Amino acid sequence: MKIAMLGSGFIARFYADSLHAQRRRDVIHSVYSRNAEKAARFASDYACAHHTSDMEEAIAHPDTEVVVIALSNDMHETAVALCARHRKHVLCTKPLGRTAEEALRMMRMVEEAGIFGGYLEDLCYTPKFLKSLASVKQGGIGRVLWTRSREAHPGPHSDWFWDKSKSGGGAIIDLGCHCVEIGRNFIGKDVRPVEVMCWADTQVHPIDAEDHAVGLVRYANGAIGQFEVSWCFRGGMDLRDEVAGTEGTIWMNNFLRTGFEMFSTGKGGDYVAEKAEANTGWLFPVGDEAHELGYPHMFTDMFDSIDQGRQPQETFYDGYVVNAILDAAYRSAASKKWETVELPVWRGAEASEAIRGYTSFDDKYYLIKEEVLPNGVTKRILKDKQSGEVESVEL
Ligand SMILES: NC(=O)c1ccc[n+]([C@@H]2O[C@H](COP(=O)([O-])OP(=O)(O)OC[C@H]3O[C@@H](n4cnc5c(N)ncnc54)[C@H](O)[C@@H]3O)[C@@H](O)[C@H]2O)c1
Repeated sequence: MKIAMLGSGFIARFYADSLHAQRRRDVIHSVYSRNAEKAARFASDYACAHHTSDMEEAIAHPDTEVVVIALSNDMHETAVALCARHRKHVLCTKPLGRTAEEALRMMRMVEEAGIFGGYLEDLCYTPKFLKSLASVKQGGIGRVLWTRSREAHPGPHSDWFWDKSKSGGGAIIDLGCHCVEIGRNFIGKDVRPVEVMCWADTQVHPIDAEDHAVGLVRYANGAIGQFEVSWCFRGGMDLRDEVAGTEGTIWMNNFLRTGFEMFSTGKGGDYVAEKAEANTGWLFPVGDEAHELGYPHMFTDMFDSIDQGRQPQETFYDGYVVNAILDAAYRSAASKKWETVELPVWRGAEASEAIRGYTSFDDKYYLIKEEVLPNGVTKRILKDKQSGEVESVEL
């Protein structure tokens, strides 16, 4: 497939490294950057046949089959509108919009134009995430009760992220979008996100937006998706996920501790891993960063979906639902109350079964718990179904 890349910055290069690595078939034939020199440098680095400082020219180019949007958040909608106008398939980086209203407009443009809209949510494609999701879907940890997703680092690398009018917010919109979608995948995309409670503050940086936040998303079946995001965290990029179910637990560390540790006095290369902060002492490099961050699996799903005429794992609709949850998080941070997730378009289940259902021990009792104590005795705690009395038996 022939790709037009919009943007030549940080994520455009990560995407290009993934797309052009390992003899992949899909190639960036054109790159747009508002700065003609940067467009030319990117084209030379990645052997692109065409480069331009006119966005519409890259999209409308007769060879362009699919457009990848790797622009600042305030430019996503403009770029999607041009893709719809020229009927080119579009893959947009996260967050889809700065608000759900913006994301919904983008989703409608794509659907009305009959083009493919893929949401580039890479952290839902990491090898660890994909394997965990498969285990959860096979029932390996029972019914999901609680997810916890954390992304924290010392802050982003470009000026526009720190300007709320361009970015749409701070750590919540930038990092919370990943955490919310990770939780939503584990809990089930069919289950409606109902309300959000969020704390947010600006603790370190002189900005209008939040640089630290923690939130809880409550779903219709009673499950809770917890997110923890920060631009104040020191010591690298902390990317961790947890899923707790009635029959098991999953813990994932995606970046800071991947089993690769190195000591250096610092006499050598400066780059260790994204946002690593240090290049001396004990270091935690990442073997194949693009892979650990999910980019190759993400693009494979996107291009396979276009070829096969199916929806990808992450769609514009998903991006819009994530934005709606984040909008509620912002309202909650201001009101300090639970705030409803407003979803004018909802395509999942209207009602979801609550995650209740007690384990029956026999006709008379529920089983609360059974445990082998340090002295070797097994203790069983039961509840009488009729009287409600709780009893324990030592075996
Ligand atoms: N894991 C991920 O998926 C991930 C990681 C980083 C960034 N992103 C997303 O990628 C997008 C770009 O972020 P980045 O880190 O590459 O930022 P960046 O600043 O490195 O690059 C931004 C690009 O947008 C262009 N741009 C900015 N303002 C523009 C304007 N007004 N008109 C035209 N072009 C403009 C810049 O010239 C540059 O090419 C953002 O939406 C960000 O949230 C995603």
